[in-house]
Amino acid sequence: MKARIVTLPGDGVGPEVTAAAVAVLQSVATHFGHDFSFDERLIGGAAIDATGEPLPKAALAACKSADAVLLGAVGGPKWSDPSAPVRPEQGLLGLRAGLGVYANLRPLKVHPALAPLSPLKSEKLHGVDVLFVRELTGGAYFGAKTKTTDAATDECRYTVAEVERVARRAFELARTRRHHVTSVDKANVLETSRLWRRTVTRIATDYPDVTLEHQLVDSMAMLLLTRPDAYDVVVTENLFGDILTDEAAALAGSLGLLPSASLGEGTRGLYEPIHGSAPDIAGQHVANPIGATLSAALLLRHSLQLEAEAQAVEAAVSEALQHGPYSRDLGGDASTGNVRDAVIAALDHHAVASDAFFTGMRACG
Ligand code: NAD
Ligand code: IPM
Ligand code: MN
Repeated sequence: MKARIVTLPGDGVGPEVTAAAVAVLQSVATHFGHDFSFDERLIGGAAIDATGEPLPKAALAACKSADAVLLGAVGGPKWSDPSAPVRPEQGLLGLRAGLGVYANLRPLKVHPALAPLSPLKSEKLHGVDVLFVRELTGGAYFGAKTKTTDAATDECRYTVAEVERVARRAFELARTRRHHVTSVDKANVLETSRLWRRTVTRIATDYPDVTLEHQLVDSMAMLLLTRPDAYDVVVTENLFGDILTDEAAALAGSLGLLPSASLGEGTRGLYEPIHGSAPDIAGQHVANPIGATLSAALLLRHSLQLEAEAQAVEAAVSEALQHGPYSRDLGGDASTGNVRDAVIAALDHHAVASDAFFTGMRACG
């Protein structure tokens, strides 16, 4: 198939991990006979430096007409002065809102070979398979802001419609998994959380085959560490989802491993690793490209409907994590390129094996 993919490398390690993920997608295109075109655009600090805007109009327009968008990361110390008139992160928020991608899927699995790197005991990690569904275009991120010299406010606002659509997405996804949804809020304190809980509870009646449980976010932060295997789909509001998923990434062994897919109503999606621009290691070519590469796998699955290709990338990543080489965050000394090459070698190996299989089938038939 033909597909148009916009890439937004951004800042810090963003360009390093995005280049690795694009190389993997190119390898997929070769092996499976697809024609992927890549259109690189500016976002974040790089866009501010070049144009004064964190999300140039042309970049947003290109994203809106693409089949999918693959993003690295935005931000960094250069653009972090609290008095700066514009910040890289505004570009990312504008992109999420502009594309209407309200459901941010952040899957967490722990590769057995990496369990020793987790701060939890290995036996606690057995069977951990959580899909976080983070609301992405509402809440405190998008509410009205005020600022004077001695006070500031960020309004947290949710409408019933905003909660309904992300809740439905979570229940639909649970139907493809273990049929359990945990909704996380702070309903003992926040009015938005009471609206959230009431709405999720009502939507649940349309999904009698899915069980629903509610957890308060403070308690959930603890439960993720004490019984991470108890969760299937976890749905929550924007800020809680941001915080809980960085915590969850630590269970997997590194923040550099987790991917995400941000989806709205159509098939077009935004795909990005959950980590940031990692200024402490940027430019050294040691960033782990696995989060970005698994995001590319989610792109194949959710925007291009290429399930076999998505699984091939996930299997290749799994094989690379089984044998190494490992990047620095995983205790090794491999470069970003070494890890990319290991994933591509595993893809090649599987493709050769399946070509031989099909050739064998033809010979038999
Ligand atoms: P960060 O995620 O950039 O880094 C946190 C820690 O994790 C650092 O020690 C970093 O080296 C490590 N890390 C992150 N990604 C890694 C990778 N792929 N391989 C190996 N190690 C990795 O978070 P931060 O330092 O708090 O934020 C830095 C900047 O990134 C900020 O400007 C922030 O706003 C931005 N940010 C952007 C995104 C995004 O673009 N989606 C996400 C988070 C943070
Ligand atoms: C993420 C990041 C972003 C967020 C920032 C950079 C705006 O932390 O994608 O998790 O908070 O959503
Ligand atoms: Mn985050």
